[in-house]
Amino acid sequence: MKLAIIGTGYVGLGVGVCFADLGHKVTCVDVDKAKVTKLKKGIPTIYEEDLPEMLKKNLANGRINFTTSLSQGIKEAAVIFIAVGTPQDQNGKADLRYVLQVAHDLGKNLKNYKVIVDKSTVPIGTGKMVKQTIAKNYKGEFDVVSNPEFQREGTAISDFLNPDRIVLGFEKPNSHAVKIMKELYAPFKKPLVITNLESAEMIKYAANSFLAIKITFINEIANICDNYEADVKMVAKGIGLDSRIGDKFLEPGPGYGGSCFPKDVSALYYFARAGGYWFNLLETVMQINKHQREIIVAKIKNMVDGKLQGKKIAVLGLAFKPNTDDVRESPAIDIIQILLSRKAKIKAYDPIAKDNTHKILGKKITYSGNPYLCAKGNDVLLIATDWPEFKNLNWKKIKKLLKAPNIVDARNILEPAEMKEMGFKYVGIGR
Ligand code: UDX
Ligand code: UDX
Repeated sequence: MKLAIIGTGYVGLGVGVCFADLGHKVTCVDVDKAKVTKLKKGIPTIYEEDLPEMLKKNLANGRINFTTSLSQGIKEAAVIFIAVGTPQDQNGKADLRYVLQVAHDLGKNLKNYKVIVDKSTVPIGTGKMVKQTIAKNYKGEFDVVSNPEFQREGTAISDFLNPDRIVLGFEKPNSHAVKIMKELYAPFKKPLVITNLESAEMIKYAANSFLAIKITFINEIANICDNYEADVKMVAKGIGLDSRIGDKFLEPGPGYGGSCFPKDVSALYYFARAGGYWFNLLETVMQINKHQREIIVAKIKNMVDGKLQGKKIAVLGLAFKPNTDDVRESPAIDIIQILLSRKAKIKAYDPIAKDNTHKILGKKITYSGNPYLCAKGNDVLLIATDWPEFKNLNWKKIKKLLKAPNIVDARNILEPAEMKEMGFKYVGIGR
């Protein structure tokens, strides 16, 4: 099938490359000229597992190409995916300006029947708005579909190729779009959830908010465990084996971050309110998640006898989670900002997220080329992101390099007993 993807960010690029790899002919459209130039040369613009190889392979066999021209990009496509960002606006709501701009441009450029698929995460009712926006300038036939993504950064390719389910929301149950979308997703052999536009839009927000609540719940359980002799890891195992609960997304930490959970929880809260419902649970979840950063700061403060001013803190990990260079809403950055506001000095290391951090923090902190240089001469070492390689560092060497052997492990990647045996003063979360 011929497909067009509008927006080649974390989601759009992964979707485009995967569809090309499955044998479709894909044109990716993006307004960012520099991005398109790089991608045309096979240079990935984001860090994502398997992406570089798949991009090169499908450029070489001509199944994927990139353009800044929307009219050219959509000309031959049967299906057009909208995958531009829907960030949080100043009031916490979803900012639909990019999606609606694309809808406007599509209206000006459509010449024949197309299926327009919304992949971006958008509040209930956006599919209908997209329809109306296109229809202002294009009087021919077209269908709008909602097909939310469930791709985690870092594993976006495998999440796309091996989904738990595929959600498709249609305006009408028997439209031409139903046939085309079923055909497109048939090779995946995964459960299809076929529903109306509004339910599909809600599924995405309900899924991400539920996961955010699950993380928040285990964070609170961990905070309680901290006051008693209970180990949250065992608690998570004990509840996770109950199939009604499930063992995933029960890792306590500094609170969820990233480009999706914070904005999606907030957007759902606000569109619930706009529709007349006060989603108290989500309001509380947002407060608890913010406070979780402070709980980590308090652990660091305790390590240095209650005074952060002038203390030197080494921070391992800047990305919002491992295997990505994305620092949007990263807990590590939030914690660093709090520490800086209390006059602590920060040295940080991340395998790949340094450049993106520099765009936010600039020279307010110093950056190290490896974890050992980062540790050297500091009062406390904070593990802020659970990069797997941090687990296997030479911790005896790090102990010698630190000014004081203090570790706050905000991701519980190390074993408390082992660290204590090595002579560290160690605290995790809920252990
Ligand atoms: C996506 C989804 O769209 C969002 O709704 C979802 O919840 C998370 O993932 P993401 O891929 O992270 O967003 O966005 P981003 O990395 O910011 O990429 C968006 C791309 O769209 C950029 O490359 C930008 O240049 C492009 N763009 C934006 C357009 O091509 N046209 C526009 O009008 C606006
Ligand atoms: C999320 C959704 O999971 C995915 O389906 C899609 O909608 C995009 O948004 P992503 O934000 O890439 O994916 O990462 P995810 O793995 O979901 O983690 C989000 C945040 O929660 C990270 O900060 C992570 O560290 C945190 N987290 C996750 C925990 O603190 N504990 C956990 O057990 C799991």
